[in-house]
Amino acid sequence: MRVLIIPASRHGGTAEMGRVMATTFRGRGLDVDVSQPEHMFDLAPYGAAVIGSGLYLGDWLGPARAFVDDHREALRRLPCWLFSSGPLGEAAPEEPISEDLIDFLLDLTGAEEHRLFGGRLELERLSRTERYIARWAGATDGDYRELDEVEAWAGSIADTLLEVGTG
Ligand SMILES: Cc1cc2nc3c(=O)[nH]c(=O)nc-3n(C[C@H](O)[C@H](O)[C@H](O)COP(=O)(O)O)c2cc1C
Repeated sequence: MRVLIIPASRHGGTAEMGRVMATTFRGRGLDVDVSQPEHMFDLAPYGAAVIGSGLYLGDWLGPARAFVDDHREALRRLPCWLFSSGPLGEAAPEEPISEDLIDFLLDLTGAEEHRLFGGRLELERLSRTERYIARWAGATDGDYRELDEVEAWAGSIADTLLEVGTG
């Protein structure tokens, strides 16, 4: 089975999470492609998809939102999982992503689950405006992505896919 991973990322933190998932899937014998959403057009070769985004002001990045909207019919026919990466320890917003948005994305894609992971901030990578917002929110450099948990989550998805594939 070929799995598509779309880890929409502005500053590389979520992209690296996608690579961790890909390594886990490949270790279980699954074929994997990892792509940013704006580069993906044809979902026909895939038997499953994992789609996620870094969170910016409570939302997925625009290309990730456009991707799930454009491909919603195809995604609904696939086993599909969603994730977001955002909260930065004590500087995390009270609601990193709203329950309404999670419900909307789950409904749109027919996904099995949405999982929220921590994020990573490197102030020198940010634009001036982003740095201003990050400082205003009290954020400092830090990596809260819990890559072990990302790996474990991908492992549980792989188990599900392999069970379905052989069942
Ligand atoms: C301008 C800005 C806004 C952010 N807004 C949110 C937010 O609303 N919710 C959240 O949990 N994290 C927020 N974050 C933290 C990012 O989601 C986090 O740094 C994430 O790891 C970025 O992913 P990327 O490196 O893949 O772009 C924000 C960060 C910046 C710089």
